[in-house]
Amino acid sequence: MTNPITTRKDGNVLVITSNNPPVNALGAAVRQGLEAGIKEGLADPQVEAMVIRCEGRTFFAGADITEFGKAMQEPGLPTVVDQIEASTKPVIAAIHGTALGGGCEVTLGCHYRIAVPSAKIGTPEVKLGLLPGAGGTQRLPRIAGVKLALEMTAKGDPIPAKVAQGAGLIDRLAGEDSLEADAIAFAREVIGKPLPRASEKSVEADPDAVAAFTKENARRFRGFEAPAANIACVEKAASGASFEEGIAFEREQFMKLMFGVQSAAQRHIFFAERKAAKIDDVAEDTKLRDIRKVGVIGAGTMGGGISMNFLSAGIPVTIVEMQQEALDRGTGTIRKNYEASAAKGRMKPEQVEAAMGALTPTLKMEDLADCDLVIEAVYEEMGVKKDIFGKLDAICKPGAILASNTSYLDVNEIAASTKRPEDVVGMHFFSPANVMKLLEVVRGDKTAGDVLATVMALAKKIRKVAVVAGVCHGFIGNRMLMPRQVEAMKLLMEGATPEQIDRVHVEFGMPMGPFQMSDLAGVDIGWHRDPTRIESIRDALAAENRWGQKTKAGFYDYDDKRNPSASPRVAEIIEDFRKKTGTAQHEVTDQEIVERTLYPMVNEGALILEEGKAQRASDIDVVWIYGYGWPVYRGGPMFWADTEGLPKIVAGLEKHGFAVAKLLKDKADKGERFN
Ligand code: 3HC
Repeated sequence: MTNPITTRKDGNVLVITSNNPPVNALGAAVRQGLEAGIKEGLADPQVEAMVIRCEGRTFFAGADITEFGKAMQEPGLPTVVDQIEASTKPVIAAIHGTALGGGCEVTLGCHYRIAVPSAKIGTPEVKLGLLPGAGGTQRLPRIAGVKLALEMTAKGDPIPAKVAQGAGLIDRLAGEDSLEADAIAFAREVIGKPLPRASEKSVEADPDAVAAFTKENARRFRGFEAPAANIACVEKAASGASFEEGIAFEREQFMKLMFGVQSAAQRHIFFAERKAAKIDDVAEDTKLRDIRKVGVIGAGTMGGGISMNFLSAGIPVTIVEMQQEALDRGTGTIRKNYEASAAKGRMKPEQVEAAMGALTPTLKMEDLADCDLVIEAVYEEMGVKKDIFGKLDAICKPGAILASNTSYLDVNEIAASTKRPEDVVGMHFFSPANVMKLLEVVRGDKTAGDVLATVMALAKKIRKVAVVAGVCHGFIGNRMLMPRQVEAMKLLMEGATPEQIDRVHVEFGMPMGPFQMSDLAGVDIGWHRDPTRIESIRDALAAENRWGQKTKAGFYDYDDKRNPSASPRVAEIIEDFRKKTGTAQHEVTDQEIVERTLYPMVNEGALILEEGKAQRASDIDVVWIYGYGWPVYRGGPMFWADTEGLPKIVAGLEKHGFAVAKLLKDKADKGERFN
């Protein structure tokens, strides 16, 4: 392997450059090269200062995550950072792109930091279930103060160079195109001055910061181990402990997290998300179709949300409705949503106008003729969809991609209503479509490879995480939701309450349980609308106008602020049904709820894999994390099943009389995992 670190002398300044694509991760060779570079600079009498910089798209984006969980090769990153800081000649970090994690810690070891204005700096380790383990938790509060250190380490969001400069984290901004020259000039300026070393600074007291921050973010951190560990390390630094004591504490906490299940789960999801973008049988260099203009059919909640994704990314949208009133309502809602973002400071007023200016509302399908991609988002009825796709076939230009936002229907059947099934694909957005990160890209039997590749690339552009799914009822996500809902209803009949079942799911880490979800989505969804026909608990609720949050009553009662409470009326309805059907009652334990609602999801996931409807188990995990809020610290249902142990899942399923998927059984028997 060629050495990723090179050095060159610019007069009395040694420039140490890393070139380790794609993101200059601090793998063993980079660490060895940095150590050697510093030694070279110290040993050379001509050298009076050093600059550390990176080639390519970014400064060091962190430790090399692929090395985690394996034996670490020397020197470790903490040693390298200490060596940089201990240098008797000034070392300047020259930052572009993103200085993240270990990359940020390298800069904190440097005596000075200079960055281009577009650079960002941050410690996102917490998102991998970790903490900055190369002195970051101790140097950051010493340089930037306790408050910012808490924010940066426990939340993990990087900050722009200008903000970092305001906090003392960046000493100087360079010209966007003259970083290296500016860094060298800066280095010359500081030669001979006393060296500022972070480890020698004391932490400025901020007595209430830790308690206030912890309280403020309790909800956000619910269930996660890493934020508390990050906070504890910063607190240690703020407690008056020496730098060495702080470092010892940081190391201990870091190792605990590194070998825990949560970090393994979060690292799994980091790679799973990136793997999901890859389509096994479509070449990575497939020529993509140009998507300059998008059409959306339907200006309802879904169509409006879908449109916003493209408008926000600067892609013009033509939105079609059948009635002027519906069109006006839809575009009005889009504007309202943007204005709400602007009111929260997330958008500038001119950005709102730019987005709205790129929207063309129309009542004529013919206006879609020049669109490169059209997404149909009307209600779920095959006849309606086929009719629309037949019309699109006649209207749209050759090569346009025709997509359906269906959440259950057969994309092959929809495609067959056109003469160009190769251009037809499913794009299943999740509600609210402008917020939820997941996009299921449904691959029909005839969908062309370049159509898939184009949609996957477009997804990244509109900041979605896309997963390829095959055609089956409900695709990946909703298909796995079905057995869960069925079992939850059965458990109600057998003696559980909606409150108990939901509580078990929330304690597991889901944002809500099955009944809270029904109330949010609408109990009347899929209802036959005949109040005299009462065949299920759902029918009974719907017949009494208990349609969920929107009617302030569903499986729960709601007050004016939509706070739920247990409903005596629902308890009566359930009791009636239990009597009517003569269902035997037993005491349902929390563990039984887990085994009967979550294990069948794993089983369904295994069937999906067996049938080739998902490319890989990790894709299923990504669907559940980004589409349904499965707790990321449990790594998605398939990863969770691995950590539970597949034999245990199989035994649980068999105990409750489920037919176990062959793939699941085989893997359990062979001692294999899904991931
Ligand atoms: N280690 C190993 N591989 C990494 C990596 C890392 N730290 N960061 C990114 N990669 C890989 C990705 O897996 C991807 O590989 P692929 O092409 O084979 O799929 C490739 O680099 C490109 O990454 P992205 O697709 O994410 O590229 P983007 O341009 O969209 O994003 C980025 C770039 C913002 C740097 C993003 O990759 C990122 O956030 N990386 C992780 C940063 C991070 O978490 N750093 C902390 C690491 S932990 C640590 O430092 C511990 C320390 O405290 C001791």
